[in-house]
Amino acid sequence: MDRIVIQGGARLEGRIAISGAKNSALKLMAAALLTDEPLTLTNMPRLADSRFMGHLLARLGVRVEEGPGAQMQLHAAEIGDTFAPYDLVRKMRATFNVLGPLVAREGQARVSLPGGCAIGARPVDLHLRALEALGAEIELSEGYVDARAPKGGLVGAEIDLPFASVGATEHTMLTASLARGETVIENAAREPEIADLGACLTAMGAVVEGAGTSTIRIQGRERLKGITHRVVGDRIETTTYALAVAAAGGDAVLDGAVWAHNKALWAAMHEAGVTAEPADEGVRVARNGDRLDSVDIETQPFPGFPTDAQAQFMALMTLAAGTSVIRETIFENRFMHAPELARLGADITVHGNEAIVRGVARLKGAPVMATDLRASVSLVIAGLAAEGETVVNRVYHLDRGFERLEAKLSGCGARIERQSE
Ligand code: UD1
Repeated sequence: MDRIVIQGGARLEGRIAISGAKNSALKLMAAALLTDEPLTLTNMPRLADSRFMGHLLARLGVRVEEGPGAQMQLHAAEIGDTFAPYDLVRKMRATFNVLGPLVAREGQARVSLPGGCAIGARPVDLHLRALEALGAEIELSEGYVDARAPKGGLVGAEIDLPFASVGATEHTMLTASLARGETVIENAAREPEIADLGACLTAMGAVVEGAGTSTIRIQGRERLKGITHRVVGDRIETTTYALAVAAAGGDAVLDGAVWAHNKALWAAMHEAGVTAEPADEGVRVARNGDRLDSVDIETQPFPGFPTDAQAQFMALMTLAAGTSVIRETIFENRFMHAPELARLGADITVHGNEAIVRGVARLKGAPVMATDLRASVSLVIAGLAAEGETVVNRVYHLDRGFERLEAKLSGCGARIERQSE
């Protein structure tokens, strides 16, 4: 199993290219099921998760081809199978998004209940309620969802989400694009990846209005067409490298980062004493050697502070002067990085959904273990700032969501390498 070895203490100087957003790419890939024409995605991140989604789609009959550069073409000329087995769905929750498109196009599907990072219960009740509102009949048995469209197909409906779930919003948008008539999603999630999906579905022929706001209107179409779509930049990768520069010290431009997608993060970083400002085609982040100030944060749906950046921000706060309170409101079990950060000398106490981080003057390298995607990269950030050697084990979590992490960081002066056993 690979591990990542970091010699801490090097400043990060230079430019880091931000890839396409994983969380957008996976849903855009599912959109390929909605048309018999080819969908071409550019700025695709090369990740274990996107490869995995590709395997599932290939099994359903989609021709998946990685093109030159960051391009991927997906062609679902015919759907060969509407069965998504446990082995291909359990590892990654985003695969569940094939359910609605399959039902919309083929009239029925059988899809395993999903898995994903072990950060909480993560049910799919909101997804299923939305599909039912569109007319699908749903049965659960033996860990599978069996869904069937009524005679005449799915029909648009008004759906009021009790919680602004990202996944349920996207799943509904995908499905409603092939349903008859208008669907209105109230209390929709507003993440930039949702606006990205809305733009893609609109280009394919559905009319999607309001994606990125709390009310989304979708006019479904009987047929959608193939198009080329560029995946939006990854705002979570952006936060990760921004926080790496802040923790290790340095001055770097994040190429392709979208300033407007991370305002809550920039505000928190300013409060901590870090420079973050829009730059040519990206964002510049800089920190001199001064001690950081402690900042309290609470994770919230977009435009609030992202839960996917909470672990990385905690890594930064371990080195601040004073005490920072970090409250997690989206997932119930998302502090697994705290005991691992403590192995590097961090002083963190977790009470329920709150972590109290008492800043220390320095961290010291140690062997640590990655537990989930974002938690593992918080350990890399801490390792970059720590004195001595940090070894991050179980890096397959990192490979799910970070493209060429070691190369991007070492390109800016970090002493980081991957070792295979
Ligand atoms: C997506 C992101 C994930 C991010 C999260 C919140 C992808 C592939 N993943 O996950 O990285 O952390 O948004 O920004 O895009 N919930 C229910 N019932 C449902 C659906 C969700 O109770 O049917 C709950 C979840 O358990 C969780 C909360 O709602 O506590 C947020 O989930 P949601 O916004 O749906 O996140 P995901 O789409 O799973």
